[in-house]
Amino acid sequence: MIFYFSGCGNSKHVAETIAAGLNDTTIFIPEAAREGRYEYELAEGERLGFVFPIYSWAPPKLVLDFVKKMIVKVGPSTGSGTLPYTYFACTCGDNCGLTEKVFRKAVEEKGWHLSACFSVQMPETYIGMAGFKLDTPENAKRKIDNANDLLKRNIPRLINKDCFSEIIVGSLAWLKTYLVNPGFNRSATDDSKYRTANIAPPRLASIAESAWKRAH
Ligand SMILES: Cc1cc2nc3c(=O)[nH]c(=O)nc-3n(C[C@H](O)[C@H](O)[C@H](O)COP(=O)(O)O)c2cc1C
Repeated sequence: MIFYFSGCGNSKHVAETIAAGLNDTTIFIPEAAREGRYEYELAEGERLGFVFPIYSWAPPKLVLDFVKKMIVKVGPSTGSGTLPYTYFACTCGDNCGLTEKVFRKAVEEKGWHLSACFSVQMPETYIGMAGFKLDTPENAKRKIDNANDLLKRNIPRLINKDCFSEIIVGSLAWLKTYLVNPGFNRSATDDSKYRTANIAPPRLASIAESAWKRAH
């Protein structure tokens, strides 16, 4: 079972590629959390995977909050089976800081053991502060090609239940994960300025129709 979050689609691609390779299923964390689905049952020997983007050199808070609330039982109904093989794959534009340490702690607090983790560089999606830019189309394509090669190499390792850690940590990792990240979560993730527009379906249809007429 693969639990994933993706803001812009990069981690969704990684989660779905891993799921296809392992013949596994994916669960979108925000949907499960919205519906209050925190209890899961794994078959004996089934893998427990997580895929998420790096947000300010750590896992997104909503992923850590979800892990905290999860109840995972292994084996038929009694849940008395052995610990599942647990791994994560994270996607980043550049590097991940001490994400492994943060996620390992979250997993160990559940009484599970993290066996494998790897990071996948994907096109940059952060433009929230001055100095941060999206990748050029050439760079984005290069990252996606490299990511697909990396997935081809690492999926067989997940199939074999290998123990490995392949994370791009980057410079000043402690500072970024343990000082910058908490500040980012406190002050740069505010959604109070966002509004949803309540456009009734017939109105949407007429907007689509006039856009189509303009284009043809
Ligand atoms: C709010 C935010 C914070 C980010 N922080 C980092 C970071 O600390 N390090 C990094 O390499 N990339 C960072 N990125 C880039 C994303 O981790 C990267 O583009 C990821 O693949 C996005 O995955 P997604 O499309 O599944 O959301 C950040 C992106 C966003 C939107």
